[in-house]
Amino acid sequence: MDKNYYITTPIYYPSAKPHMGHAYSSIIADFFARFKRIDGYKVYFLTGTDEHGLKIQRAAEKKGVEPLAFCDEISKTFKNLSKTLNLTNNDFIRTTESRHKKSVQYLWEELKKNDDIYLSKYSGWYSVSDEAFYNEDEIEDLDNKKVAISSKSPVEWVDEESYFFRLSKWEKPLLEFYEKNPDFISPASRKNEVISFVKSGLKDLSVSRKSFSWGIKVPNDNEHVIYVWLDALTNYISALNYPNKDDELYKKFWPASVHLIGKDILRFHAIYWPAFLLAAKIAPPKKVYGHGWILSNEEKMSKSKGNILDPLEIIKQYGLDPLRYYLIKEVSFGNDGNISQERLEDCINSDLANNFGNLCQRVSAFVIKNCGSKVPEKIKFENDDIKILNEYSQNLDKLRSEIDNQNINYYIDYIVNRLFEANKYFNDQEPWRKKDDKIRLNTIVYTTLEIVRKVAFLLYPIIPQSSIKALKIFNLEEKDVIFQSVGNNEFLKKGSTINKIDILFNKIEKEND
Ligand code: ME8
Ligand code: MG
Repeated sequence: MDKNYYITTPIYYPSAKPHMGHAYSSIIADFFARFKRIDGYKVYFLTGTDEHGLKIQRAAEKKGVEPLAFCDEISKTFKNLSKTLNLTNNDFIRTTESRHKKSVQYLWEELKKNDDIYLSKYSGWYSVSDEAFYNEDEIEDLDNKKVAISSKSPVEWVDEESYFFRLSKWEKPLLEFYEKNPDFISPASRKNEVISFVKSGLKDLSVSRKSFSWGIKVPNDNEHVIYVWLDALTNYISALNYPNKDDELYKKFWPASVHLIGKDILRFHAIYWPAFLLAAKIAPPKKVYGHGWILSNEEKMSKSKGNILDPLEIIKQYGLDPLRYYLIKEVSFGNDGNISQERLEDCINSDLANNFGNLCQRVSAFVIKNCGSKVPEKIKFENDDIKILNEYSQNLDKLRSEIDNQNINYYIDYIVNRLFEANKYFNDQEPWRKKDDKIRLNTIVYTTLEIVRKVAFLLYPIIPQSSIKALKIFNLEEKDVIFQSVGNNEFLKKGSTINKIDILFNKIEKEND
């Protein structure tokens, strides 16, 4: 089996600066990318910005700048955020790049060639904020304004000549595709809403606009620009050099393993995108995973509500790894999750500083003092040691399969339990009382060191910098982190040096402590 793995984030609108929701999707995608890499996969991880369409054109007009100059500026803040979040993305695509435009126009011609595109007229509702067309039954009145029921964003009436994609023709093939690929729409809880929408009947989709110009031109018809979602979705293959099907990237990584997105854009990814691809005779992605909302004060973050959490501020205050850890652990993945500074501080204090950081400090200090700063040589495992060590090797496949189901909460809860267990083991075994029984003392120390090493490997996809910092205890580096080695009970070279390391996490003083 090919061990290739292609994961993508949505390409974000550079209409405003990135916020915590964007950071969330990106951090989760990075978690999967890093996990798969340490598990021996060739990984391609893509993110980027979605720069065309009326939403961006209007945002630029409001600022009084040209759309491209506007995008250049904000796209850069997204690119910088990728660095700040320590993402391991292999590429960052911008839809204003010529490599992307060429792919989109090629795909258009393919659809046209197969008679899936025709010219007609669109009259109906459009939300610029969602860049989406809505049926009459999908809108409502709110404070005397027409809004989309699902997103509450305002809609406006559009009446213009437009090219259409024969979406109706793909209703049956889509339903068959979902049937044959039961994991395509994930989590399972979101499947029904998509399937019943398709079953209720698909209308042909307007895929061009004539009343504004900020977009990719329809081939051979300069008066139209291509609908921004057809443009944007194509990023997932344009980044692999589609239409060059002989291209190494394309051959290796398409179809994508998973498009990670928020539930707001599930319809585009689970209906339109596979329909476009089927029409162009391209295999659809293997999975589309729509995660839930990050809520701030129990509400979805939005500019109008003024409850936007700035990831940069949180990182400045607490550091990156605590934020990554917190978002991965405390949001039940797939569902909405409220985030609070209070809970973030609890995570730092109890999980990171106490359970992990303290264990690292304690055992390394003990070795430095009692074992001449060396990994002990004379050891003889007893049942207690073997039991705690084997726990890991016995669960590697289970962890892998949970990750393949995007069950990241299982993965992190597993680590939390191992940390409790490790601290308890060290306390119960009381190596400080075993100074007359060197072999027992050495064995307890060796076992605990192995566990610190194992847990640091497991933590790598979640908190990479801190994991690497902890591994300095053993002179191990990033390249040494291999998931399979978590199952090895004698990975550490006996007699090798143990180093003192700096404190990994500073505890947060809490007012009510
Ligand atoms: O929709 N909680 O871009 P966008 C969790 N350009 N995730 C959130 C979030 C929140 N409160 N807010 C945003 C677009 N996100 C299109 C995508 S893809 C071909 C084109 C995340 O800037 C989540 O992943 O509005 C959501 O789907 C995405 O940002 C929307 O970003
Ligand atoms: Mg949005």
